[in-house]
Amino acid sequence: MAEPVIPLSDPAPAGRPGVGVGTWAWGNQFLWGYDPAQDGELAACFRRAVDLGLTFFDTADSYGTGRFSGRSEELLGRFLQNLPPDRRRGVTVATKLAPFPWRLGRRGFERAFEGSRQRLQGHLQRVQLHWSTARYAPWQEGPLLEGLADLVAQGRVGSLGVSNLGPCRLRQVHRQLARRGVRLSSLQVQLSLLAPDAVGDAGVVTVCRELGIELLAYSPLALGLLSEPPGSDRPLPAGPRGWLFRRLRPRIQPLLQAMEGMARAHGAPMAAVAINWCRAHGALPLVGMRRVEQAEVAAAAALWHLAEAERRELDRLAHACRARMPANPFQSD
Ligand SMILES: NC(=O)c1ccc[n+]([C@@H]2O[C@H](COP(=O)([O-])OP(=O)(O)OC[C@H]3O[C@@H](n4cnc5c(N)ncnc54)[C@H](OP(=O)(O)O)[C@@H]3O)[C@@H](O)[C@H]2O)c1
Repeated sequence: MAEPVIPLSDPAPAGRPGVGVGTWAWGNQFLWGYDPAQDGELAACFRRAVDLGLTFFDTADSYGTGRFSGRSEELLGRFLQNLPPDRRRGVTVATKLAPFPWRLGRRGFERAFEGSRQRLQGHLQRVQLHWSTARYAPWQEGPLLEGLADLVAQGRVGSLGVSNLGPCRLRQVHRQLARRGVRLSSLQVQLSLLAPDAVGDAGVVTVCRELGIELLAYSPLALGLLSEPPGSDRPLPAGPRGWLFRRLRPRIQPLLQAMEGMARAHGAPMAAVAINWCRAHGALPLVGMRRVEQAEVAAAAALWHLAEAERRELDRLAHACRARMPANPFQSD
């Protein structure tokens, strides 16, 4: 099988943070073992991230499980409120609204948007469609996008993004919004060395470049798998994440060995190599973090780049790797 051509990178535009902060774990008991006792640590992580220049935060109205529903946005709103106003103004919060089946029509996101805005205490700069309904309810998506475009056109939110769209759907959505004169600012997809399709020859990266849409890479550390040194016998994480680690860990050792060599050469931890591979492809990695040290590693990673030869070697290993992260079931073509 021919190796796919993975396009060359564009440097990050000047002034843009090189790494974004993901907050899926904040309030998620099911996958991430959230406990409210962690809130102090999350606040410290948030503050350290902002102090180090990580000022783009990704959240969602569906984040937080069970009785913690909405907790990610609530925590972010609370932490932002505790920042001095001048620091707060420099932070961008992008939330994702879920196209649940009961959210229908052009005004289908109206209440959801207001709910997010309240939980975030008004600090909301971008709304994103969380996933595409093209595979199971294609008629639902168009009106919901019109509603999001209305929010931008009315000046109620600054910008609009989408998530989990493939190249075809991305072009269609871009056309739909362009007819309204509304810019599509970003696309967020899973992108890591264990989910490299977005930067393959048929991936969305080409469409993003052509249409001037920023690519945001979610799960850049493959939920933490890519931050472990090779041969790690660290105890498995609890719950479904542990199942994933048990299944994939044995198959990614050659990749981890190469990453460890590069990490050593740059005097950086493994996670920084995984983060910088996404950046080398022109994406803004959204790193899930909940501890101060993790913010420090992510911020330090944004200060250096992989050499071109290193990126190519990682591209090759990612392609050859027998392990893949599970794809989002709602990812469209
Ligand atoms: N649009 C979508 O459908 C979608 C889907 C998934 C995620 N996302 C977004 O993308 C963000 C990031 O993805 P993710 O949270 O799935 O996973 P990720 O960034 O691939 O991995 C996050 C985990 O890696 C570990 N980690 C982080 N920094 C580390 C470091 N410096 N050293 C060692 N381990 C480190 C942490 O685990 P421990 O805390 O256990 O150490 C952390 O929780 C999410 O938070 C969310 O905002 C969007």
